Amino acid sequence: MNFPILSTGAALPRTCVSNDDLVARGVETNDAWIVSRTGIRQRYICEKDESTFTLARDAAVQALERAGIAAADVGVIVVATCTPDLSFPSVAALVQGAIGAPTTCAALDVNGACSGFIMALATAKGLLAQGMGKHALVIGAETFSRVVDWNDRGTCVLFGDGAGAVVMGCTDDGVKGLTGDAAPQGLLAVELGMDGTQAGCLKSSGGVSSTQTAGVVVMQGREVFKQAVRQMGQVPPVLAQAGLALGDVDWLVPHQANVRILEAARDALGVAADKLVVTVDKHANTSAASIPLALDAAVTDGRIARGDIVLMQAFGAGLSWGSAVVRW
Ligand code: ACO
Repeated sequence: MNFPILSTGAALPRTCVSNDDLVARGVETNDAWIVSRTGIRQRYICEKDESTFTLARDAAVQALERAGIAAADVGVIVVATCTPDLSFPSVAALVQGAIGAPTTCAALDVNGACSGFIMALATAKGLLAQGMGKHALVIGAETFSRVVDWNDRGTCVLFGDGAGAVVMGCTDDGVKGLTGDAAPQGLLAVELGMDGTQAGCLKSSGGVSSTQTAGVVVMQGREVFKQAVRQMGQVPPVLAQAGLALGDVDWLVPHQANVRILEAARDALGVAADKLVVTVDKHANTSAASIPLALDAAVTDGRIARGDIVLMQAFGAGLSWGSAVVRW
């Protein structure tokens, strides 16, 4: 069975906020500190009429249009988010209703923080493999601007809002013309990991069942930095599972937390600098949306081409991690 990635889509809030704009908004920081510590130059922040749902919907609609797939042909919708519009129903439910996907479709959210998109890919693959349709919408969508403490300059400068989506197909008869050869296509292998004993390193300070609030982001920055580099700097087992080696990777698309984390992990892996896709400078850390937004950027500007081997790597709250390898 093949799980080809047919298209990507992206949605960002209307308002782009530079580092200097943050200073103008009253955050006690400066552009030089943020750029030197994180590589972040700007982020997008939702206005009142924008939300995780509207971003997820817009990214999904764009991905469907680009794939030439009608909403009626979607069998699975998985939204990776930890910043949903409502505690329930899920963002996936809102997206299903808004785009007019069939009521027979499997639609659910996955709360995996920054690893959420890889968890969503794994979930969608499993649902498609069980026969729940021929196409899945896999979406990462977040509005971290609504859960950061704007008085905590050590965290609020790091995050942004956005959504990215892919349409994943499911075929048992090979490549369907994507690459024109018979090699395995699409999502070749995916793996996930979790160390819940490290939950305190990066978490929300509240939740529905504890404080009856959403809480704000609380993070042990240096510890998270160290753990992220250690995990993302290891050659992930997905490559061997797919019968590939690091040298086969054309594009490394990691979770976009901090350019220093990305470069340290890339160095540890020994991957060439020009194979690393970086969007954290433009989007900041958009949690579960960061990998699909980075994928979309590199596909739409022509870097990622059909047949390329793409390695995605995520790391985030949990502490959690995940990797996926795709033959585009
Ligand atoms: N602007 C200006 N000064 C600041 C800011 C800011 N935004 N934030 C902190 N500072 C100051 C501190 O007050 C401190 O000042 P002091 O020395 O006078 O006390 C100084 O800068 C150093 O602060 P640290 O927190 O020790 O800075 P550090 O060098 O550790 O960098 C950072 C902080 C950028 C958060 C770093 O730890 C990091 O990148 N960690 C990874 C966290 C991350 O990316 N998390 C995202 C979620 S996890 C994930 O997605 C994988």
